[in-house]
Amino acid sequence: MSLLITGGTGYIGSHTVVELLNTNQDVVIVDNLANSSTKSLDRVEQITGKKATFIKADICDKEAMREVFKAHDISGVIHFAGLKAVGESTQIPLSYYHNNVSGTVVLLDVMNEFNVKNLVFSSSATVYGENNTSPLVETMPTSATNPYGQTKLMIEHILFDLAKSDPDWSIISLRYFNPIGAHASGLIGENPNGIPNNLLPFVSQVAVGRLKQLQVFGDDYDTIDGTGVRDYIHVVDLALAHLKAVAALPKLPGCTAINVGTGNGTSVLQIVNKFKEISKVDIPYQISPRRPGDIATVFAEAKLAHEVLGWQAERDLTDMISDTWRWQSENPNGFE
Ligand code: NAD
Ligand code: UD1
Repeated sequence: MSLLITGGTGYIGSHTVVELLNTNQDVVIVDNLANSSTKSLDRVEQITGKKATFIKADICDKEAMREVFKAHDISGVIHFAGLKAVGESTQIPLSYYHNNVSGTVVLLDVMNEFNVKNLVFSSSATVYGENNTSPLVETMPTSATNPYGQTKLMIEHILFDLAKSDPDWSIISLRYFNPIGAHASGLIGENPNGIPNNLLPFVSQVAVGRLKQLQVFGDDYDTIDGTGVRDYIHVVDLALAHLKAVAALPKLPGCTAINVGTGNGTSVLQIVNKFKEISKVDIPYQISPRRPGDIATVFAEAKLAHEVLGWQAERDLTDMISDTWRWQSENPNGFE
C-alpha cells in the first residue's frame, strides 16, 4: 500500500516525503511542477537513501488521476498541491479557484471512485480571517480576506460536507501557522520563485546578498516591539504532524480541523535579530508602511493537535533559523 502525496516536490511536501520514507512507507508523488522541480526528488533520495515514485500530473486532470489510482494501491492521500501566493491570488483569482478548489474536487471524486477515503489536507491559519483574537482555536468562526484564503475555506467546507454525507471518510484538515526552516541536512528547503513574499525567505536572501534590504511592514502594531507577531513552525515538525495525522485517520471518522503551530508568537524584529545572531551577517532593514491585509498578532492554540494526534512542536526558533540559514547559505540560488 502506498500513500499518495500531491504537491510532494514542493517545500512542505518534500520534507514530509523524507519523513515518510524514513519510516519505510511507500510513497507516490503527483506534482505538475508548477512551483517546484524534480531536483528536490534527487535531494530527498540523497537524504533518505530511498526513492519515491514520481508522476508528473495535474490534479485537475481527472484521467491522469484515475491512471495513478489504477496503477498504485493507494491507502490514503496527503494533499499539498495548490497555489499559495496571496498577492498573486488577487491578480488571477480564477486560476486559484480552478487549481485549488476544482483540483481538489477532481481529486476527491477520483478517491471516491477508487474507495480511498482517508485524506490529510493542507489548510492554513488564514481561515481564521481578521476578526478573531489569538490564541486561535479550531472552534472559532472562519472567514477569508483574499482569494487564496477563500480557496482554503471553500475546500474545508467541501471536506466537512463530504464527511457528513458518507461516514466512511476520515479527513484531517491541518491548519498550518507560519512554516519556516529546512531539513537539518541543508539539502532541501524553501525555494520561492522570484522575489519572496514571506518573511523568512526574504530575510535569508538579504543575508546571502541576493536582496539589498528588508522592508519591515509596520512598527506601530500593538505588539512587543510594534512589529507583526506570528507563530513560526519548523517545517520538519510540520512534516511530522502529517505522519501523526495519517496514523490517526482510522480512528477519527468525519472531518476534523486541527491547528499546527507552536502556540508562541515571535515579532519581525525578533526574527531579524535572531537571524543576525545565528548567521553573523548583518540584515539591513527599513521600516515601511503596514502591508494591506496584515494583522498585528497571529498564534495558535496548539492543544488539539496534542490531544488528538499526540503531536507537538519539538524544534525552537534557534533550530528554525539555523536550519533556514544552513539551507540558504549552502544553496544561495535554491536548487539551481
Ligand atoms: P509549494 O508551492 O512549495 O508546494 C505546492 C506544490 O504543489 C508545488 O510543488 C506545485 O508544483 C504543486 N502543484 C500546484 N498546483 C498543482 C496541480 N494542479 N497539480 C499538481 N501539483 C500542483 O508550497 P508549500 O509551501 O509546500 O505548500 C503546500 C501546501 O500547504 C499548499 O496547499 C499551501 O497552500 C499550504 N500552506 C502553505 C503555507 C506556507 O506558508 N508555505 C501555509 C499554509 C498552508
Ligand atoms: C502570509 C499570508 C497568509 C499565508 C502565510 C503563509 C498575507 C497577508 N498573508 O501570512 O495568507 O497563509 O503568508 O504563506 O500575505 N513581513 C515583513 N516584511 C516582509 C515580509 C513579511 O515585515 O518582507 C512581516 C509581515 O508583515 C508579518 C510577518 O512578517 O508580520 C510574517 O509575514 P509572512 O511571512 O508574509 O506571513 P503572514 O503575513 O503571516
